[in-house]
Amino acid sequence: MEELREFLMKLNKYEPEFSVVIGSGLGSLLENVDISETIPYKEIPDFPISTVMGHKGEMVFGKLANKNVVFFNGRVHYYEGYSMKEVTMNIRVSSMLGVKGLIVSNASGAVNPLLYPGDILLIKDHINLMFGDNPLRGEKGNEKFVNMIDAYDSEYRKIFSKIAHKKGINVREGVYCAVPGPNFETFAELNFMSRIGADAVGMSTVPEVILARFLGIRVLGLSCVTDNVFIEGLVTHSQVLEVADKCGKTLSSLIGNFLEVAK
Ligand code: HPA
Repeated sequence: MEELREFLMKLNKYEPEFSVVIGSGLGSLLENVDISETIPYKEIPDFPISTVMGHKGEMVFGKLANKNVVFFNGRVHYYEGYSMKEVTMNIRVSSMLGVKGLIVSNASGAVNPLLYPGDILLIKDHINLMFGDNPLRGEKGNEKFVNMIDAYDSEYRKIFSKIAHKKGINVREGVYCAVPGPNFETFAELNFMSRIGADAVGMSTVPEVILARFLGIRVLGLSCVTDNVFIEGLVTHSQVLEVADKCGKTLSSLIGNFLEVAK
């Protein structure tokens, strides 16, 4: 950790206010960014490296909508064999850089049959089905009993919804359910998730949000719905990437507008 702290000291000059985690296939989020510096994850001490197609591995400092932002282009997942502590290193690093707000994006499958591929889901809450490990497991002190009510900041959500509405982009609020993966879900599992109140399912984000709340970082969660097995009968990783790529362009403009006003 000491080596990492020292490494980040050289990067504090960028003074990022926001951190953006770029999920599966959503790399086009970087298209409108005025980039100052790109650092491959492999150069960052203690930082885990993504092994999945569609996930780059680089930290990017730049300006978007006149805000200093650090982007994590690509994340690592629990299903790659990493611990939850490793999976959430992007959030640790964000906090060490002084970030106050996090925009976390992902690709998800529809649990609510009324969500369609290409839809953007504004995450209003989550259900954590990633039992077994937790980024706060083993944490000392009482702060680990972190409050998760309003984890997805209601003010951020209001701002984002307003922007989407103004632009005529259909954004729905919903509940994201996290599973360990890497297999996709059975119909029985999707029915179960629907009954417990989930709208979409994916294999990331929740650990990052838990650690962000622990570290006092406000969160905006955005999901690109890439598949609906109720309509399509099955889902493949290549479809996830293809739909996410289209979604990324819309998300990118919405995030730009969000950053213009969010604090
Ligand atoms: N299930 C789980 N994770 C996903 C899916 C899905 O259908 N689509 C994209 N990520």
